[in-house]
Amino acid sequence: MNLDRFERYPLTFGPTPIEHLPRLTNALGGEVQIYAKREDCNSGLAYGGNKLRKLEYIIPDAIASGADTLVSIGGVQSNHTRMVAAAAAKIGMKCVVVQEKWVPHFDAVYDRVGNILLTRLMGADSRLVDDGFDIGIRKSWENAMQSVRDAGGTPYGIPAGASVHKFGGLGYVAFAEEVKAQEAELGFRFDYIIVCVVTGSTQAGMIVGFAAQDRAEKVIGIDASGTLEQTRAQVREIVDNTADLVGLGRAVSDAEIVINPDYAYPAYGVPSEETNDAIRLAARTEAMITDPVYEGKSMQGMIDLVRKGEIPAGSKVLYAHLGGAPALNGYSYYYKDG
Ligand SMILES: Cc1ncc(COP(=O)(O)O)c(C=O)c1O
Repeated sequence: MNLDRFERYPLTFGPTPIEHLPRLTNALGGEVQIYAKREDCNSGLAYGGNKLRKLEYIIPDAIASGADTLVSIGGVQSNHTRMVAAAAAKIGMKCVVVQEKWVPHFDAVYDRVGNILLTRLMGADSRLVDDGFDIGIRKSWENAMQSVRDAGGTPYGIPAGASVHKFGGLGYVAFAEEVKAQEAELGFRFDYIIVCVVTGSTQAGMIVGFAAQDRAEKVIGIDASGTLEQTRAQVREIVDNTADLVGLGRAVSDAEIVINPDYAYPAYGVPSEETNDAIRLAARTEAMITDPVYEGKSMQGMIDLVRKGEIPAGSKVLYAHLGGAPALNGYSYYYKDG
């Protein structure tokens, strides 16, 4: 397997820390040791997060294309569009982001605070449109690309979550190697890796990376999309494309793609009571801040799987914290009493 032949534009600090979470471990009975890999602290660019690992492999292609404007898409409180705006600012390109109405959530300041505020602050042209949730290629995104051309610019398109981009899966392949090196220092191996999945390339990259170590089925994706079949199909496609690119040298089986759909309710972007309880527990035991759209749901999933014994006593679990805390500002009513 070879990642080195792909150019990487550094946007992150480098390997992210792995942190033991002893108070969360104890709150869940103390039989399963819980650790977090802090992807949420991976960069100084606009609060960082998982998208920067992906963009590190996409930005060189954008620069080589001769583009002057990055064009991307997400929901109103998209972390991804914040990260594309950050990358554009950092490399001195313009940025247009389409922000669709992906979430049935009605907070008076939803389109003024958190991710969208930061996106605008970094100079991106943020365009609100009324279309609903869909992780695929969108007409509104194609229209935005055309509008840049019409204005005499040269767009470079980055799809939702940077996922169906040809290099979208590369960023998280290296995650597995990084974990392996950190395990050697820690003196043990993790039994499970928990990761939130929506547009798919974070988990898909991890699957390819861990498949090279023959333990991809230990990566448990917790779906937060609520559109499981589409997410699963997208992960499958990205796994195959990425495995090909890096020369994994074997096919990844369906059994190596593990996605649990049980925590995405009631809808993408809407937290359940249990999601909010999980967010509170992580915050109160470890001061680890998770959000109601993504990480709160994977936190909820991990907590439930440990409590139910589906993650057996004696296991060591690595929770991949992918970022996303700025979105909390758009959900303040849920947490007005803590
Ligand atoms: C904070 C956070 N967690 C998890 C995800 C899911 O990652 P992916 O879209 O690569 O499946 C995203 C983006 O969609 C995110 O912003």
